[in-house]
Amino acid sequence: ENLRVSSPKIVDRQFVKPLLCGPGPCDYWPAVVEALSRQIITPNCDEFYNVLDDIRAGLQYVFQTQSKLVLAMSGAGHAGMESVISNLVAPGETLLIAARGVWDQRAEIIAKRLGIKTEVTKTPMNSTFTLDQLEPELKRLRPAALFITHGDSSTGTVQKMQGLGELCHKHGALLLVDTVVSLIGVPFLMDEWGVDGVFSSTQKAFSGPAGIAPVAFSSRAEKKINNRTHEPPFYFDVKLLANQWNCYGDTRQYHHTMSPPMLWALRACLQSICNETLPVSWARHAASTAHFHKRLQEHNFEFFVPKPEDRLSTVTTVKLPPGVDHLEFTGYLREKHNILVLEGRGPTVGKALRVGIMGVNARTAVADILADAMADTLRAIHPKK
Ligand code: GLV
Repeated sequence: ENLRVSSPKIVDRQFVKPLLCGPGPCDYWPAVVEALSRQIITPNCDEFYNVLDDIRAGLQYVFQTQSKLVLAMSGAGHAGMESVISNLVAPGETLLIAARGVWDQRAEIIAKRLGIKTEVTKTPMNSTFTLDQLEPELKRLRPAALFITHGDSSTGTVQKMQGLGELCHKHGALLLVDTVVSLIGVPFLMDEWGVDGVFSSTQKAFSGPAGIAPVAFSSRAEKKINNRTHEPPFYFDVKLLANQWNCYGDTRQYHHTMSPPMLWALRACLQSICNETLPVSWARHAASTAHFHKRLQEHNFEFFVPKPEDRLSTVTTVKLPPGVDHLEFTGYLREKHNILVLEGRGPTVGKALRVGIMGVNARTAVADILADAMADTLRAIHPKK
């Protein structure tokens, strides 16, 4: 035969799954494990479209929006980011980016590649923005939209959102928000806060697999999408996707082949979350994280974010004592305790560890195991402390 490449030997690989306490991914809901092993079906039949309806209802609940333009993009959280930006900001328009971590840097890269003008306003990475910081920039630049990250997994901060939508609208801008690591874990009220475009992802407090990105658009955003003067990338075209997701009736228009296992998994996440209810989930995250923070303080760990009200309850950033190697710390924790936490990302590389207590792991028992294992790790690799 003319085969130029011979068949590789692909062996079975097993691994012992660590307790996932990084900034994501998080462990699965039991219902997700079951959903991922279900049979697939053609994405062109009643069974499939019924699942899309269930998902849209669940997403309206978790985003707290009555908007009809709610669906999920095939792809990781970045697909959500790219679709929100590309559908709501035209090439040549200005996107103002409120920057404090790595995700807003990504937003800038994505926007630039789409031919959007970008303007960046910064706050120190271990803090969040006030309305007073943002208003002069909105006034001066008159951007088409403001991009801001609600929960930032690179810095462990949570942005206060009250009043921001109103402020953006007063200055003619749409409000675009990244809730990848905040949704389900901390309160988020899309309609009440005047958010116009929002995206999330399923591998954080959703406790599912990455690969499908929930998005929602306000009626203001919808107007811009329906009267658009530019065409976003085909794969991320929300106007077309709305017809596949039946956002406005039973359109059932084929756009691309969605992955049934991802949809089954997202539906299972939403079923578990809706059964628990948001207020109970938010309280569970707040209580387990408060307990974790207390335990960290008992072990003399220092927080990277100085103001308690800026600390994100799904991801805690921790400063290690000078001279402690972050990768040695995370390596020891994985090896000796089978717990995964991650070093910093983007601006926090070498400055903070990122520790996640979210989704199914947001429990005080997990917080205790984690805090004790972190204390043991520090003693082992930094014995003079
Ligand atoms: C990835 O999502 C991260 O927070 O590092």
